[in-house]
Amino acid sequence: MVYKNEHLTELNSDASSVRCFRVTTASVYMISLLPLLAASVALATPLESRAPGWTFTEKGNSGIVALESIVVSPTLVVFFDRASDDPLQINGHSAWGALWDLQTSKVTPLDVVTNGFCASGALISNGSMVSVGGFPLGFPGNPTIEDGTMGLRIFEPCDDPAGVGCTLFEDPLTLHLAERRYYPSSIRIPDGSLMILGGSHNNVPFYNTIDEAALTLEFFPPKDGGVPRPIDFLRRTLPANLFPRQFVLPDGKIFMIANNQSIIYDIETGDERILPEIPNGIRVTNPFDGSAILLPLSPPDFAPEVLVCGGSNIPDTVPVIEISRHAPASDQCSRILLTEEGIKRGWVVERMLEPRIMPELVHVPNGQVLIINGARTGVTGIGSVKDPLGNSNADHPVFTPSLYTPNAPLGSRISNIGLPTTDIARLYHSSVTLTPQGNFLVAGSNPNMETNLTVPVNTRSEFRVETLDPPFMFAPRPRILNAPAKIGFGKQFTVPISIPNNVQPRNIQVALMDLGFSSHAFHSGARLVFMSAQLSGDQRSLTVTAPPNPNVFPPGPGFVFLTVDGVTSEAQKVMVGTGASPPQTNF
Ligand SMILES: *[C@@H]1O[C@H](CO)[C@@H](O)[C@H](O)[C@H]1NC(C)=O
Ligand SMILES: *[C@@H]1O[C@H](CO)[C@@H](O)[C@H](O)[C@H]1NC(C)=O
Ligand SMILES: *[C@@H]1O[C@H](CO)[C@@H](O)[C@H](O)[C@H]1NC(C)=O
Repeated sequence: MVYKNEHLTELNSDASSVRCFRVTTASVYMISLLPLLAASVALATPLESRAPGWTFTEKGNSGIVALESIVVSPTLVVFFDRASDDPLQINGHSAWGALWDLQTSKVTPLDVVTNGFCASGALISNGSMVSVGGFPLGFPGNPTIEDGTMGLRIFEPCDDPAGVGCTLFEDPLTLHLAERRYYPSSIRIPDGSLMILGGSHNNVPFYNTIDEAALTLEFFPPKDGGVPRPIDFLRRTLPANLFPRQFVLPDGKIFMIANNQSIIYDIETGDERILPEIPNGIRVTNPFDGSAILLPLSPPDFAPEVLVCGGSNIPDTVPVIEISRHAPASDQCSRILLTEEGIKRGWVVERMLEPRIMPELVHVPNGQVLIINGARTGVTGIGSVKDPLGNSNADHPVFTPSLYTPNAPLGSRISNIGLPTTDIARLYHSSVTLTPQGNFLVAGSNPNMETNLTVPVNTRSEFRVETLDPPFMFAPRPRILNAPAKIGFGKQFTVPISIPNNVQPRNIQVALMDLGFSSHAFHSGARLVFMSAQLSGDQRSLTVTAPPNPNVFPPGPGFVFLTVDGVTSEAQKVMVGTGASPPQTNF
């Protein structure tokens, strides 16, 4: 987060005409498909015995540093980077947006107007992806960049599997945030709009500051007459409150966590209910990024529980120049049940297998949580601690993911047995997302000001993309053969399915998921809601009950996964609710 100013240029702000850019499918940067593990799909004997376990697979090159990623269709992921000197080119300059094709592992540049560095985003109720906020500065030799702090970038729903004809729309003059926001977070709320929280107005060195902090939230499309709404929580959590984490609770209120504090926020009244602090002085938001996740919500009561893992116990009064890249990160996970009883009990502490700064917590369709990426020591950011490695404020990358099993007994929920080890470090400015295919796309890492391939190996700008493949990627899988385009709240719908070998299932799970927008160790909007499901006598169809209301799953796009005895299908994309533009009022 600290930039050497000689490498940056002030952006000139004479933004001109309406801009609408098309994806340029002609200029594909690089293709590198590893042959899929070949024989693994031959099927005769029980597959568990022959299929490989969890596997990392290298998939090619992202062309830009994939520091933000979001799935926007069954086959496409949007990546954003800072506007810099990335190798992927468009219109004669380096790109900082790209479409990743999950089927071909090809990348196509997107022509982004404003600098989406350290932005956030989510999908809204009509299926559009909205990216918000970003960085105020440009980069030498890349003269087209415009100030991104008020950026609003819209990627409309894209039906072409390869993204042909799909556009990223920006018009910075008429379509922008109300307040400048670098390091905000954003979620889709129950009326289908985006709520955008916090950040800073400018490039702050390491900590947020009282002078630059955006101590407000706002909405897209705007509410409150377009005037940002102050929220005291952000003042109380200075200076370690960048990328605040937030979730919609099943009563429609919003859980927020920043620094070592959390609240439940009422959008209607503006009331803040203060919750217990995270124990042991652990801070979980930037520049001490831990990660946070709303655990899967299950019928009939959808009781919400939040899990936060990693971060640091460094006091937020220590000047960054006194912090070492060897300072141990936190191995603490803290979990709270957000009912009256759970709030009274407070946070329950458990331990990861290793400390992690910048871990990622990602939903697995079977209800587990993947813990992946990050480092054992140091803090987030670039070149600001007293002893950076290359330019990295963090060191000792964690190369082996773990799985967290929410309903296992306390103390035995976290394991890495059977999980593979990569040799690619994923430190600051990396991302990971679950894909509609059911594996995880892991990309990015760049604790440097620009592309830097000469620093120590684990801190280099990283363009290699990997998937983390669960064992079922190499086995016969159940399938949802078809799904309704739209599903209505509380409504039942029946989908044709197939189960391999027509075995008698012991356990069937149907997960409705928002895959989230991955940026800075947080997945804005990520959500898993289990839906109750009835298997037909012939095992060829499932009758599923949609979430009861828009608080449980805010209206908008979702992916439905079927898991039969631990083996997960590919997802079917659905629209939850009517698909109308926000704000939605009729459900
Ligand atoms: C939370 O952080 C504040 C300072 O930011 C500190 O005074 C307080 O003791 C911390 N709370 C806990 C429970 O550690
Ligand atoms: C890479 O980082 C190192 C360490 O800060 C620096 O000396 C070098 O100039 C950087 N290289 C580039 C290409 O920026
Ligand atoms: C979705 O709504 C937003 C906000 O009104 C709008 O900018 C966007 O164009 C809409 N997308 C579609 C597909 O209607």
